[in-house]
Amino acid sequence: MVDSSKSPHPASRAPEGADNPSAPKSERRFAGKLSDRYDLWRVARPHLETIHGAVSDQVTRFAEANGDKVRAVDIGCGDGAITALLLDDERVDVVGVDNEPKMIVQALGRLRRWIELGRLSVVEADALRYLAEQGDGSVDLVASGYVFHNLTPDYRAAAFAEVYRVLRSGGLFINADKYARDGEVHYQDLKWQIDRFFEAFGDTEHIDILRAWVLHHIEDEGPNHLMLESAALTELEALGFVELSIVCRRRMDAVLVARKA
Ligand SMILES: C[S@@+](CC[C@H](N)C(=O)[O-])C[C@H]1O[C@@H](n2cnc3c(N)ncnc32)[C@H](O)[C@@H]1O
Repeated sequence: MVDSSKSPHPASRAPEGADNPSAPKSERRFAGKLSDRYDLWRVARPHLETIHGAVSDQVTRFAEANGDKVRAVDIGCGDGAITALLLDDERVDVVGVDNEPKMIVQALGRLRRWIELGRLSVVEADALRYLAEQGDGSVDLVASGYVFHNLTPDYRAAAFAEVYRVLRSGGLFINADKYARDGEVHYQDLKWQIDRFFEAFGDTEHIDILRAWVLHHIEDEGPNHLMLESAALTELEALGFVELSIVCRRRMDAVLVARKA
């Protein structure tokens, strides 16, 4: 693991002064064990490659139609999985934003060469606070992976609204995330996913990771986190997004795209 204090390109911190005491607060659900071994999450996610492929496909299509350079923001960049997909297209410059220092360290280690090439900056900041500092229509593409379901409904609503505001007209929002389907099928999806975690981490060496992820999934089911596909589509449409579509779904994982009119 890279020590960010020794990095020649430490993550920048969002400037002070944007604090709004009435803004919804975010939890830091990745401050503990989950970020220590975030890489292990992928072991229990057999569909991730397909989901990432769908994200890349959307990025390529958007960049082709966009013309010159694409200004992209990756909300909750974590260790940089979605950021790397964005950077794979040479037309795309990225700002990765995350509020968890341990995840930022991993992103800096993984993506250092892009920082050196001037195509990436990584900002340690709360997502809502970062977005609030960006100008109207200042971003072409907002992408995110497995972040929005971690947000409480009021924070999520505020973040969706900020994504809409910072996107230029015609800009694209791509979100790969856990989007629950209505009804019984979601519980089948959940059961399947929990089973994958037991398969991946059922040995005693990783029992703490197993416990942390199972508890995280239980919390995700509560009203403070569950993100229903139907509700999210309605919420985004009400903000003015058009051409909303789930372009890929595997169990509870889905890629949602929405364009700013
Ligand atoms: C499940 S990880 C996803 C990481 C990465 N996007 C991926 O696709 O693997 C969720 C990330 O969102 C970050 N996060 C959660 N809430 C946030 C917030 N309010 N502001 C900024 N980052 C946040 C966490 O620190 C964590 O790194």
